[in-house]
Amino acid sequence: MLPLQQQLTGMLVGVLTAVVLFSTANAQHGGWGYSSDNGPATWPNNYPNWCNGQKQSPIDVQSKSAVQKSFPALNFKGFDTPPADAQMRIKNNGHAIQVDLLSKTGKTDNYQISGGGLPGTYNVLQFHFHWGSEHTVNGKRYDAEMHVVTWNSKYPTASAASTVTPDGFAVLSVLLEATSQTANPGMQNIVSQLSNVANKGMNYTYPTSFSVNSLFPADKANYWRYMGSLTTPKCNEVVVWTIFKTSLKISQDQINALKTSCYFNSAGDQDQQQLNNNYRTTNPLNGRTVFDSSNTSGVPQLAPTVLALVIAVLSSTALQL
Ligand SMILES: *[C@@H]1O[C@H](CO)[C@@H](O)[C@H](O)[C@H]1NC(C)=O
Ligand SMILES: *[C@@H]1O[C@H](CO)[C@@H](O)[C@H](O)[C@H]1NC(C)=O
Ligand SMILES: [Zn+2]
Repeated sequence: MLPLQQQLTGMLVGVLTAVVLFSTANAQHGGWGYSSDNGPATWPNNYPNWCNGQKQSPIDVQSKSAVQKSFPALNFKGFDTPPADAQMRIKNNGHAIQVDLLSKTGKTDNYQISGGGLPGTYNVLQFHFHWGSEHTVNGKRYDAEMHVVTWNSKYPTASAASTVTPDGFAVLSVLLEATSQTANPGMQNIVSQLSNVANKGMNYTYPTSFSVNSLFPADKANYWRYMGSLTTPKCNEVVVWTIFKTSLKISQDQINALKTSCYFNSAGDQDQQQLNNNYRTTNPLNGRTVFDSSNTSGVPQLAPTVLALVIAVLSSTALQL
């Protein structure tokens, strides 16, 4: 070989090695996403602890198999009226659009949830959106899903809580359905700022905080409950899930805005990919129970009355025999 050819070959080998090392590093360190080369199918291999576990989320909720269970009422603190020192910041984290619930004075208990059979009082960190939905119900995928991420206040920090099975985190899930003719006012707080968070790393602090409750359905007493995981690597199996049965109705324009306004990439990246279909596929239950809170207060108590009548008739018949 001529010296020049040797040099070129050496350079080529060097470049190829660098490329291989870089892609390996990329796949293993924060390189996950939703495309075929880094999407959900690759997570169990790339993040075996926990994405390859037995209690993974999301799942398909099969409503007929859910076990009825009565829970005490869920309590929400700070959801209706924003706390005085609340500060909301929307951002594109490269995987989803997220709103961080911050405090100007560093409080962690501005927004909390408790009750509802939750094993403690949980501090709310943030909420974010997946479109389409991650959980499906009887095989149906909704247009989008909001996750409100909270951590058990009995642990010192959110980070400490994030590794504690089974009660470190609790996530509230609201399914979104584009069936409304008019824009949902709560959702409009998100949609109106999408242009400010088009690329990964971009963020915008709201001058005035809005009501988190504006993104919830009116009925928060009926939900499904099961034990699962974070739906993104490392898929920590630390989550008490609450999925509200009543969906939030948004408009087709609002879902279209979610699908077309943002990118997975940082500004200036070559080959921009639209931030869309950022959901993990469903995972097997593996023997877990899904509970159905089935709160029927306020619903006419027809069924028990009919049942009582049937029993009365049957017993009187039995007595006559
Ligand atoms: C049941 O629903 C009613 C009406 O929404 C509510 O007032 C009550 O607190 C709920 N009870 C539980 C246990 O969630
Ligand atoms: C928000 O954006 C600013 C300006 O680009 C940036 O300096 C800052 O690091 C971002 N903050 C977060 C939390 O992403
Ligand atoms: Zn999520």
